[in-house]
Amino acid sequence: MRMYDIIHKKRDGFPLTDEEISFVVQGCTDGSIPDYQLSALMMAIYFQGLDPHETAVLTDRMAHSGDLVDLSGIQGFKADKHSTGGVGDKTTMVVAPIVAACGVPVAKMSGRGLGHTGGTVDKLESIPGFCVELSPEEFIRTVNTVGACVVGQSGDLAPADKKLYALRDVTATVESIPLIAASIMSKKIAAGADGIVLDVKVGSGAFMKTLEDAVRLAETMVQIGEAVGRHTVALITNMDAPLGNAVGNTLEVREAVETLEGHGPSELTTICRELAANMLYLAGKGDIIHCNKLAREAILTGAALAKFKEMVAAQGGDVSAIEDTQKLPAASDFRRVKAPMDGYITHIDAEKCGLAAAMLGAGRQAKGDAIDYTAGIYFKMNLGEQVDGGFEFARLYTSGDPVRFDEAERLFLEAVTISPEPLPESPKLILGRV
Ligand code: URA
Repeated sequence: MRMYDIIHKKRDGFPLTDEEISFVVQGCTDGSIPDYQLSALMMAIYFQGLDPHETAVLTDRMAHSGDLVDLSGIQGFKADKHSTGGVGDKTTMVVAPIVAACGVPVAKMSGRGLGHTGGTVDKLESIPGFCVELSPEEFIRTVNTVGACVVGQSGDLAPADKKLYALRDVTATVESIPLIAASIMSKKIAAGADGIVLDVKVGSGAFMKTLEDAVRLAETMVQIGEAVGRHTVALITNMDAPLGNAVGNTLEVREAVETLEGHGPSELTTICRELAANMLYLAGKGDIIHCNKLAREAILTGAALAKFKEMVAAQGGDVSAIEDTQKLPAASDFRRVKAPMDGYITHIDAEKCGLAAAMLGAGRQAKGDAIDYTAGIYFKMNLGEQVDGGFEFARLYTSGDPVRFDEAERLFLEAVTISPEPLPESPKLILGRV
C-alpha cells in the first residue's frame, strides 16, 4: 500500500477502505509516514470529508494506537464528560463533585490548555499542592475512596491523534467535523468510561461557529460513542460569551467553589447542573428531571462542595484554600476597566476575551510555557447588564509585567460591545441535546 495513492484517492473524493485507514494510523504512530504526507491527507479530508463509516474506523484505530485505560478496578458505571473547549469553562471542577456526590464515580483525564487560558488540569494545579500526576493505581484508589479524581493525560493515550492533532494545528485543518469528532472520541474511548457526556460549544469562542455545524459535530460523536458501546449524550451550549464572570486559573477555581456553594453565576450553575444530570441519567439514576433534581440537591445540601474538598485533599491540595478562597494565590497587580459609555453589554467576543487573558499570562503561547495562575479577567457586570460610563465594570489581573495591561485592556475593550438599548431577550444557554 502506498500513502501517495491514499492521498490521491481522498483528494478525488473517494472513501478510504478500513485497511487504508489502518495503514495511515499505523504509519502515523510508528513514524513511517512523513509529516508532509499526513498533512496532505488531512487537507484532503478537510475538503472531501469522511463518511460515517470512515470516521468510525479512524476513531477506533486512533483509540487503539496506544494505551487503553483500564477502569475495571472501579465499581459501578463510570461517567466522563468532555467539553469541546471554550473561554471560562470551569465546568469539570463543579460537575465531577456533583456527580460523585450522587454516587456515580468520575475518573477523569483532562488536558492542559494552549493559547487562551489553561485547561482543567492547569486550573486544578493553581490550588496549592494539587497533584494531577497520579500513578494508575493511585488514580483508581482515589476514585474508589473519594468517588472523583481528575488527572492529566498520562501514558501513551491515542498517540496517533496526538500526532495528527499537532499537524492539523499548524496546517489549518483543525476545523473539520469528522476529524474533530474522531480526535475527541478516540481519546474518550481510550480513557475507558462507560458513559460520556459531551458539551459541544457553539459561538464566537468555540470551534463551531454555527448551530448547524455544532449539531453535526454532536451527532457524529454520539454515533461513534454508541457504535463502540459507550452511552453518549451531547449538549449543545452557547459560547458566544465567556462562561461565568471569571476567566483565568485561580479566578476560575474561586468561581467554581462559589458555584458549589450555591451562589455562582446562574448560567454557569445551569450548565453544570445539566451536564451532571446527563451523566447521572447515563448511569441509570432515573429520568432526566429526577437527575436534575439530584444535581440541584447535591449543591443545596453542600454534598458536592464536601466532595470537592475531599478530592482536593486526596490529590494533595490545600483544602484551606477552598474553605477560604482568599487564600488562593492572588495577582500582584490589577487594573480597573471602566465602561467607555453608558449602556448595556450586548456582546462579549469570547475569543478576544480569551486572548486578552492569555496576554495577561493566563494561557500558554507554546507547549511547556509557564502559566501565571493568578492572571485573568473578572467581569463585575456581564452580558445583558447595564453599565455606567466611566465606572468600573471589569478587572484585569496579572503578576507579570504591568505593561501587559495596556495591550490586554485594548483587546478586552474591543471584545465588549456596549449599546444604548438592552438585549431584546437573554441569549439561550442550552441550544440542543443529541
Ligand atoms: N479537541 C480535540 O481534542 N481535537 C480536535 O480535533 C479539536 C478539539
